[in-house]
Amino acid sequence: MDAKKMWGGRFTEKTAGAVEEYTESVSFDQKLYGEDIFGSKAHVSMLAEAGIVSCDERDIIISGLDTILKEIEEGKFIWREEDEDVHMNIERRLIDIVGAVGGKLHTGRSRNDQVATDFRLYVSRSLRSWHKELLRLIDVFSSKAEENIQVYLPGCTHMQPAQPVSLAQHLLAYVQMFSRDAERVASCLERVEISPLGAAALAGTTYPISPERSAELLGFGRSFENSMDAVSDRDFVVEAIFCGSLVMMHLSRICEELIIWANPLYGYIRLPDAYSTGSSIMPQKKNPDVCELMRGKVGRVYGSLISLLTILKAAPMTYNRDMQEDKEPFFDTDKTVLNSVSIMADMMKEIVFEAEAMEKGMQKGYINATELADYLANKGIPFRDAHHITGELVGYAERNNKGLEALSLEEFQNESALIEEDVYKILEYKVAAERRVSAGGTSSKSIKVQLANLKKWRVKEEEKLA
Ligand code: ARG
Repeated sequence: MDAKKMWGGRFTEKTAGAVEEYTESVSFDQKLYGEDIFGSKAHVSMLAEAGIVSCDERDIIISGLDTILKEIEEGKFIWREEDEDVHMNIERRLIDIVGAVGGKLHTGRSRNDQVATDFRLYVSRSLRSWHKELLRLIDVFSSKAEENIQVYLPGCTHMQPAQPVSLAQHLLAYVQMFSRDAERVASCLERVEISPLGAAALAGTTYPISPERSAELLGFGRSFENSMDAVSDRDFVVEAIFCGSLVMMHLSRICEELIIWANPLYGYIRLPDAYSTGSSIMPQKKNPDVCELMRGKVGRVYGSLISLLTILKAAPMTYNRDMQEDKEPFFDTDKTVLNSVSIMADMMKEIVFEAEAMEKGMQKGYINATELADYLANKGIPFRDAHHITGELVGYAERNNKGLEALSLEEFQNESALIEEDVYKILEYKVAAERRVSAGGTSSKSIKVQLANLKKWRVKEEEKLA
């Protein structure tokens, strides 16, 4: 075939060079070659089953497509910008290889349902690997939690010391976030794995095709309901990027904490050397660059989400070329999310928690004050009064530069005669955490229930995508 456009029949003038460059997508959508070839094989197989092409024609086309797949994978395929996109590059080469019969592949199909099919296959594959990596991340966090049930640190609200919590409780809070992420990805897949093949350009086709059969051959659970929606729907991409945005937001939150904890002022963790960098001028520095970058990369994923929402917001029915702009934001999101989840899992495995520094950290900030207030309330005085008395004791202890547990019984009794020797036990940080046996609380007992529930959830969640 000469260099004439595949769609060039009605044109008499050449496309301007700048326009060719402006409109092409092959430079980035060639990533979809595997999906494009797979989708074409499904389509031509359905055509043959429906008697629209002969079985010989199908076999010739399929073997031509296999040759192309090999050429691409061996780096021998010549991608031509003049052929615009991955779809027409492959179709042109198919006709080169098998001759005119290759032109039958596009029967009852349009690039509009073709690109939607390819992209759904691609997004589906990506989401399935996100899901798998999220489960691995959950496993790493859960086993770290399991190892650290009896390690305690100051739990914060407003970033201020609040109450003692188990390190496991803290890590399992992230596990909850990541498990919602996994569930969201699995649910999103239900809307991604719908075949648009057979919608043709926008209105369906006069050929006796079977979109249900195409869906089955693609490995999708169902096929489109409405041809116009099928070619113009990109909700699935928006939703996938939204899932990725939440994953990144959660990763960014833990990164922020790891950065704080790695600061020698806290010293709660030691970051593995393999996940830190040094300073070119300050020899003592060990910088948490991986965490910072992960926190920073959230920006590009949110950017992609807003970008795609904006691209689609005024798109009239049905396919519009604007939609070609959906690819790069997703490709970038895919790479960022997958790498971030996987690096976090590997890094978390290597992080060393410093129980002693956490123990010391608990001695600042009067995080056992709630215990004292509850102690007094349990002796029968209204909680408001108990709160007030405790506040005065905290003020007194602060002025004297010591912890509540360091006050003498006499000092306590100056504020309230109700306080007795047994107060010292309840002021212990570990005891404070362990007394919180309410469901989902921070006692070892409640944490073990969480871990058991998690194990059950984990099995079911993995089965969902099996
Ligand atoms: N490259 C195009 C895209 O990514 C493929 C579909 C083109 N369809 C069309 N009618 N021009 O959206």
